[in-house]
Parts: sequence; C-alpha cells; structure tokens
Amino acid sequence: MNGSTPFKIDCIVGARPNFVKIAPIMRALSSRAGLVPRLIHTGQHYDFVMNAVFFDELRIPAPDINLEVGSGTNTEQTARVMLALEPVFLAQRPDLLMVVGDVNSTIAATLVASKMLIPVAHVEAGLRSFDRAMPEEVNRLVTDRLSDLLFTTERVALDNLTHENVAPERITFVGNVMIDTLFACLERAVDPGQTFAEIGASEAFQSAAREKGFAFVTLHRPSNVDDPVKLAALLGALATISRRLPIVFPIHPRTRGMIANAGLEPLLAEPGIATAPPLSYLRAIGLMRAARLVVTDSGGVQEETTALGVPCLTARENTERPITIDQGTNTLIGVDPARLIAAVDDVLTTGGKKGRAPDLWDGRAAERIADATLAFLQRGREAIA
Ligand code: UD1
Repeated sequence: MNGSTPFKIDCIVGARPNFVKIAPIMRALSSRAGLVPRLIHTGQHYDFVMNAVFFDELRIPAPDINLEVGSGTNTEQTARVMLALEPVFLAQRPDLLMVVGDVNSTIAATLVASKMLIPVAHVEAGLRSFDRAMPEEVNRLVTDRLSDLLFTTERVALDNLTHENVAPERITFVGNVMIDTLFACLERAVDPGQTFAEIGASEAFQSAAREKGFAFVTLHRPSNVDDPVKLAALLGALATISRRLPIVFPIHPRTRGMIANAGLEPLLAEPGIATAPPLSYLRAIGLMRAARLVVTDSGGVQEETTALGVPCLTARENTERPITIDQGTNTLIGVDPARLIAAVDDVLTTGGKKGRAPDLWDGRAAERIADATLAFLQRGREAIA
C-alpha cells in the first residue's frame, strides 16, 4: 500500500434514525479523494415505511451489502449482525468502521470491528441518559469505550467521556449530522395539508388543524409502549388533549403492535386524532416545522424541534440530549398523564419555550467528520511508514 491508496471506510446503518444521520456522512466521505466509503445495511429496519422511503428521500446510495437480520430480541438482533458482519470484514477488510447513534446495529458492528483490530469512529458519542434500562444506553457505553474516534454533538458529551477516562485526543466536537440533514431537506418538506389528505384525515380534522394548529406526536420507547397500563394512560392523555388541539400521530410498528395486542384502539378513535403509519422524512419534518408543539419520546425529534424552534414535550424521565433543554425548546415532562395535559395547556397559553440553536448545529457536521477521519487515517499511515 502506498501513500496515495484511498482508505476504505465501512459505514453501518440499521434503523431509521441511522439513515437520517448517514446521508450527509456518505456525501462528505465520497467527496474526499482519499476516502472510499462502502455502505452496509444490517436490515434491522426493513419495512418500506421504516427504510426504503428514507433512502429515496435522503438520496442515500443503495447499500453495497444488506445483512437482512430483521427483528428479534436485543440479543438476537445484536448477535445476528455480528455473525453476518464478520465474514464481510474478512472478505474485504476496511481501514475504518464508521458507526452512528445508539441502536443495536451500532454496538454489534463496533464489537466485530474491535475484535478484528479495525479502528472505529462513533458519530454521536458521549451522550448519556444514565439509565441502563434503555437498551440504547448500554449500546452507547460499549460503543464509546471501544471507539478510536469519538465525534460529539454537544459539549456535555465531552464531560461524560472525560468522566469515563476517554483520552481527550480521541474526541472531536463536530456538531450534529441530524441537523445537517434537516437543513438540507427543509426546502423539500411536504406541506402538512398534503400529508393530512394522504393519511385520510377527516375534513373536520383538517379544518380544525388549519384553524387551531396541531400537535405532532411520536411514541415508541419500550419503556412507554411495552407496558399496556402505561400506554393506555398516555393514549388517554392524548385523547383529552385532542379535544383542545388536533393531534397527528404517526404510529411506529412497535407501538402499533402493542396497541393492537392490548385492544387500545378505541382510545385513539377521537375526531381530533389523525393516526398514520410511520411517515416519510419529508412528511415528518413538514409536520414538525408547522406544529404548535410536539410530544415525543424520540431522541432525534428532541434535537430536530430545537433546531426548528418548535416547543417539544418529552415523555421521558431523562434525556441523553440535555442541550435541547438547556438551550433548546425541549421540556422533560415524564409520563404522568396529568402532567402531560398541563404541559400542553401551558404551551398553548404561553407559546412555549423559545430556545436557540446550539453551537455547531450549522449543517456542516459531516464535513468536519470527513476531514477529521481522513486526518486520523493519514496519521496512522505515516506512523507505520
Ligand atoms: C430501534 C432502536 C431505537 C430507535 C428506533 C427508531 C435499538 C435498541 N432501538 O427501536 O433506538 O429509536 O429503532 O425507530 O436498536 N418492526 C417492523 N418493521 C420494521 C422494523 C421493526 O414492523 O421495519 C417492528 C418489529 O415488530 C420489531 C419492532 O418493530 O420487533 C421493534 O423494532 P426494533 O428494530 O427491535 O426496535 P425499535 O423499537 O424500532
């Protein structure tokens, strides 16, 4: 290998939030003469609405390899990705593995690469909810421990990593690739009126939404949706809220399955609630941007609402993204239905939190990642030359 051989970078995606993050990274890596990215899809998410539509809208190149692992328990999913990925690395060893976020595909790929002594770069490093009941928290801890390059989105991540004795030279504050994608796509966002028509919202709903505005709701965290009692309480609160403010609620497959198993559909049969299958990215950001408020338990939505300046009520006891609270428009409200209803009333009365854009959430995070990755690989090559 000589000094001009391009470096091979394998990028891993598995689940919906990964697709949003990888889009600008693939573009930035491809634009560097010294880097050749290859996209490996684990197949953790596979439905059209959770997967293919994102590749189309975000203009992500088709994956070079699909491991087709599908659904399963956390352990099954992680183990299947590991078993399927090892032969891929053995057949063509990358110079570096790039992983994003905190899903099962992230930790699985990191484990395989680490055992083969392939350097790992982790995008969105250092976030901590300090709640190990979340599968994502375990994924974050292990991925960061094993990563050689840690790219962070907010300053608190550096504190968390320093606390865990990660060497500072491995950490680079680059900003937020999810916001790169948001800014790149906003002008193509779908008008809410079109989305309401497509999902079959009633005329009465559409005219109420035009007149009063609407709330955009997403819920899919196992801690909120896997327990039928908690889920019923949350859906009951949505029913109450919908009598004041129309609600559009695209339902994640996990949540839809739980609602069906527990027979909770009647709670959603309200004239002020328009349900939908999972929505495409351009439809989701179109609704988020226009919403009077957002209720969510998603990590990415907390960040997107902060970047858009839309009040966000997070139905969780903690967040790994505290900057969205300290500087952004996010408020943690827990999962008590009465508190949720009161928080919505408060936003409707006061207009909600105002917030400002966090440092380096400027649409250029992926460019910084590509530069830092190339510099890291070049240093490694010089060291052995
Ligand atoms: C995963 C991530 C979570 C992320 C979320 C975004 C982990 C531990 N969790 O959670 O961090 O916020 O993606 O969506 O990696 N299903 C389908 N079609 C699909 C995919 C899933 O029907 O294309 C159903 C299956 O019944 C599956 C369930 O949804 O069992 C959950 O999917 P899974 O990938 O296990 O986790 P998510 O809840 O999506």
